[in-house]
Amino acid sequence: MTTRAVVMGVGHYLPERVVPNAEFEKSLDTSDEWIRSRSGIERRHFAAENETTSDLATFAARAALDNAGLSVDDIDAVVVATSTPDLTFPSVATMVQDKLGMTRGFGFDVQAVCAGFIFALTNANALIVSGQARRVLVIGAETFSRIMDWTDRSTCVLFGDGAGALVLEACDGAGDVTDRGVLSSDLNSDGRYRDMLYVDGGVSTTGDSGKLRMQGNALFRQAVEKLTSTAHAALSKIGLDDNAVDWIVPHQANIRIIQGTARKMGVPMERVIVTVQDHGNTSAASIPLAMSVGVTRGQIKRGDLLVAEAIGGGLAWGAVVLRW
Ligand code: UT7
Repeated sequence: MTTRAVVMGVGHYLPERVVPNAEFEKSLDTSDEWIRSRSGIERRHFAAENETTSDLATFAARAALDNAGLSVDDIDAVVVATSTPDLTFPSVATMVQDKLGMTRGFGFDVQAVCAGFIFALTNANALIVSGQARRVLVIGAETFSRIMDWTDRSTCVLFGDGAGALVLEACDGAGDVTDRGVLSSDLNSDGRYRDMLYVDGGVSTTGDSGKLRMQGNALFRQAVEKLTSTAHAALSKIGLDDNAVDWIVPHQANIRIIQGTARKMGVPMERVIVTVQDHGNTSAASIPLAMSVGVTRGQIKRGDLLVAEAIGGGLAWGAVVLRW
């Protein structure tokens, strides 16, 4: 018998306010046509002024718990992937615990920017496999609208706010690739690339939270190659190749990166979950959001083999293979 971290529930939350591309035409030298053709984005959601990352995370967590038919008392740990916490500390995870009324167990945040959910899921899986926790809420939640420079047309049109969550539970598996649950993962980072995507402020430098800066074109050139190689690395660890993949669930930064990676993997776009047109780039929230939407649309079904892959600031990148 092998212990597997199996998805028992999934859910997401998107703030009410939807901002179409055309809204940026009023204040910036940009166009709906440019944003659509270069990124695939058509609209994104922005959090209300009084809505914080932990609010979004809590809504998504409740939806995932409902979907699993579980209550907060069943949960041992909360792991939140975010780069836009409510406060410098405490962690968003402990705020989510409080908002859910969870007075036992533990919570912590993981910060790997757009790859954050891959790192959080890998950590949550390790907690379950090592016996630290039996049920874990793993959440990706972001309010990137708070770190946008609204005068920088090359970044502010690309990002959005949102949250997605999974409930993972320890289940016995046979120890082979037919098992449901997390089957493998591959994590990478390389700080030499840090200038490609960063925030120009922070606690021990400027003392404020700063604004996002990105060399989009340079990052684009890294993305397809690194995403394909990490997906292949995760698959080959368990003796699988691209033919085994039912769904790629990619980080939703740019439709051209998503298409390029799928093409390199030889997976047709019909087997890729795409939400970038509706959500924009929601950083660590994009993969659990796409999983939740993929299930709602009737695309992802129990037993399907998923490869989730992401890259972002650091650079940090990685992939997880899991059977739904
Ligand atoms: O989530 C983390 C990972 N993030 C990513 O992977 C993002 C990776 N990068 C990208 O998605 C793309 O590089 C972008 C969507 C950011 C940009 O697309 P691009 O095809 O690489 O465009 P570019 O940066 O090469 O810019 C082309 C032109 C430039 O003008 P010139 O220098 O050719 O005259 C930009 O100034 O487009 C201009 N431009 C814009 N024009 C209208 C940049 N932003 C805009 C804009 N509207 N919003």
